[in-house]
Amino acid sequence: MAITLGIIGFGGMGGWHARNACKVPGITVKGAYDIDPVRVQAARDEGLVGYDTLEALLGDKEINTVLVATPNDKHPELAIAAMDAGKNCISEKPVAMTVAELDQMIEAGRRNGVIFTVHQNRRWDKDFVTAKTVIESGDLGQIFTIQSRLHGTGGTVFGWRGEVEHGGGMLFDWGVHFLDQMYYMCGYDTFTDVYCQFSRVKTEAVEDYLILTLNTNKGYRVIIEIGTFLLHDTPRWLIGGEKGTCYIQNFDAKEGAVITANAKEEDEPVIIMTSAGPTRTFSPRPAGSKLYAPLPQVDPQWTDFYANVDAAIQGKEELIVQPWQVRKVLCCIEACFTSAKTGEVVKL
Ligand SMILES: NC(=O)c1ccc[n+]([C@@H]2O[C@H](COP(=O)([O-])OP(=O)(O)OC[C@H]3O[C@@H](n4cnc5c(N)ncnc54)[C@H](O)[C@@H]3O)[C@@H](O)[C@H]2O)c1
Repeated sequence: MAITLGIIGFGGMGGWHARNACKVPGITVKGAYDIDPVRVQAARDEGLVGYDTLEALLGDKEINTVLVATPNDKHPELAIAAMDAGKNCISEKPVAMTVAELDQMIEAGRRNGVIFTVHQNRRWDKDFVTAKTVIESGDLGQIFTIQSRLHGTGGTVFGWRGEVEHGGGMLFDWGVHFLDQMYYMCGYDTFTDVYCQFSRVKTEAVEDYLILTLNTNKGYRVIIEIGTFLLHDTPRWLIGGEKGTCYIQNFDAKEGAVITANAKEEDEPVIIMTSAGPTRTFSPRPAGSKLYAPLPQVDPQWTDFYANVDAAIQGKEELIVQPWQVRKVLCCIEACFTSAKTGEVVKL
């Protein structure tokens, strides 16, 4: 049976799901429950059924799938309630704040025989799919570094995202997305250890800047850096291989290139004088010795996430976002918190 969706938590993301899940043919968004009556009314204003209680939503027999889009700390309790009511369940990210909580969610899915997945929608982001396509093409040769960065300029972490007890901070907010992308792209047995550091630049309670390094058993390193206050652009992706370099400037992947060396135009590097003194290693490459190729054209759609869950519920496809994958990422997040606290490299 195709998805008839009920949404728990009708804030920014709950409303977004209501407007987008229904774009997939066959999926119906029936209604929403929120702890805040104003948001229940907002659901009604959008033509949905507004449920005044959680029990009312979970008791609606037409709803076969529940999407939890509340602040992070509420996901486990509400997802388990939904699955115990016999509903398939989609949790927003981060699925939980501890692996122990996630294990209870996975167990609830198993004991009730329902589908359980997580909205890791950034597997369908254009910049990510472009980076993955470039790396998998082999055009850069053996990769030595993959760098994924995002910086805001406002410095502010809003509302519950700035409160520890609700799962605030950049690691749970964006870190979980970027780690999910790296595991999905690089493989689930690739990362050997992690070193993570936090700063509180503008926000007292939670990390608003983080940088982490993942070591791999494939000879390259991954760097993820996320911040809220950097007043100059950095590329979203910078990927270095033995044959060339790729940069992708923004989420839309419009600006960027795959740059490789044109061996024909290469001369012996000469020593040049710079304001930092004489250098040969860092002398600019001769004109014409870099070949610029455009980024590959890709066209992923976020709605493909819902389409896959719908197909999985109907037994037509495997889930793309599998609970065991999300668990690997959450183990890494726990290791990141330990590393940031102890200042040590943590094995994965
Ligand atoms: N995947 C993505 O791209 C993406 C983007 C934004 C947010 N999110 C995630 O979506 C979730 C919600 O984020 P948001 O930006 O919509 O937050 P929000 O604050 O805008 O909305 C949260 C809503 O949940 C309601 N709520 C709180 N406790 C509740 C409870 N116990 N029962 C029912 N409703 C409750 C609040 O009243 C509020 O309306 C978070 O987990 C966040 O990490 C994911």
